[in-house]
Amino acid sequence: MQQGIGAEDMARLVEDWASAHGRTRDRLLPLLHWLQEEIGYVDDMAVPAIAAALNLSRADVHGVVTFYHDFRRAPAGRHVVKLCRAESCQARGGAAMEAAAADRLGVAMGETRRDGQVTLEPVYCLGLCAVGPNALVDGRPVARVDAAALDRIAREIAA
Ligand code: FES
Repeated sequence: MQQGIGAEDMARLVEDWASAHGRTRDRLLPLLHWLQEEIGYVDDMAVPAIAAALNLSRADVHGVVTFYHDFRRAPAGRHVVKLCRAESCQARGGAAMEAAAADRLGVAMGETRRDGQVTLEPVYCLGLCAVGPNALVDGRPVARVDAAALDRIAREIAA
């Protein structure tokens, strides 16, 4: 993952990707996913470069980046905790779990804690609906999240 790159390098990255993978409108999501994988988030300064590379308006690109919850617009914390907000997990106490997680981890949903240690993000179904409410902690699924599980997650993050 590359970090801390400037606007020129960003534009070069985007241009190289578009040269290799195409410049049609349907390339927008693959490019955004690749960029997030490469940089860790979709920086606002990438939007003009992406628009130019794919012949889209900046508003088109910005609209897609902000519509999809998958795209992070700022660097994540050292740990990323994702909580499922989809229907089954909500029916199994997801909202209460989310409030408890925000409290226990000291960060609001969609935010990164000030010390940069953890980012709390929503996710929409992990395919584990029968054992919710569910979370992903640094990519590892955690089922039946309750107060004890949140304590374990908080200890993991503090370590
Ligand atoms: S609804 Fe949460 S895992 Fe499917």
